[in-house]
Amino acid sequence: KIITAALTASAVMSTAAFAACDDGEMVIKFSHVTNTDKHPKGVAASLLMERVNEEMNGKACMEVFPNSTLYNDDQVLEALLTGDVQLAAPSLSKFEAFTKQFRIFDLPFMFKNIDAVDKFQTSEAGVAMKASMERRGLSGLQFWHNGMKQFSASKPLVSPSDADGLKFRVQPSDVLVAQMEALGASPQPMAFSEVYGALQTGVVDGQENTWSNIYGQKFFEVQDGSTETNHGVLDYLVVTSVDWLASLDDDVRDQFLTILEEVTATRNAAVGQVDAEARQAVIDAGGVIRELTPEQRQEWVDAMKPVWSQFEADVGADNIAAAQEINA
Ligand code: LMR
Repeated sequence: KIITAALTASAVMSTAAFAACDDGEMVIKFSHVTNTDKHPKGVAASLLMERVNEEMNGKACMEVFPNSTLYNDDQVLEALLTGDVQLAAPSLSKFEAFTKQFRIFDLPFMFKNIDAVDKFQTSEAGVAMKASMERRGLSGLQFWHNGMKQFSASKPLVSPSDADGLKFRVQPSDVLVAQMEALGASPQPMAFSEVYGALQTGVVDGQENTWSNIYGQKFFEVQDGSTETNHGVLDYLVVTSVDWLASLDDDVRDQFLTILEEVTATRNAAVGQVDAEARQAVIDAGGVIRELTPEQRQEWVDAMKPVWSQFEADVGADNIAAAQEINA
């Protein structure tokens, strides 16, 4: 590879990473938005890269671009379709333009914990959801867990009325918009990479996210504190394009999908520990975490759960019933 002097530092770095792939190796570019350390997605993506590069050496070569360095989540789905990247793992809230089925994961208090989410995703209905965007050109490969979401804001949130009138960053999802409106708050959809700055400058007052994101993005530094509501789920779909997957030789595709499946099993099984470590890391770094009594938490349930009825037609009453049965 010839690197000209005109390249910027970051271009040199990515060119250098690209040059590390040998001639004749198929390059798999994986773009995502989180940090790599103490983060469920970051760690899983790194493990996938290591295994592909070791076990498929000579055939395939993976490069991971974390921290929104290449694309944000809106852009990356388009980039998959144009073939600029081959792999992404956006949160399930980011697929609004492609399918309404994932709305079930955004509905507040739908799943009691990540184990319940896992059971739903591995049920027949959950497995079928991975293929729900094929006619739109996207092929869902595996669900990756992150964790349950918590609220944070520029003032203490104990009762739902504390959120009234505040501006909250949400992921671009109609369900999350409706959820915040149910609290009397003003939802502001925004890319992940912009949230810290928006909290810092007061463009928004609060946000909702998992411990690993609150820690990884240092949201706790620019918030009064976080309230442990566990009110929703943040999970991912590892996704590629139908065309790219079909273009692979059978043996290459099989080997790649097997490695991905094994990495998924390993990292999804470890997600509780990663989540707990990130929660502790927030505390160790001086972040405030407020716990709710069962009665206080019930007030949040009562305020937010009415949102379900608005989206029942999109997600299916049968899927809601199946999720509730798993919780029981
Ligand atoms: C967010 O936008 O808040 C998250 O989906 C980011 C991520 O990938 O965890």
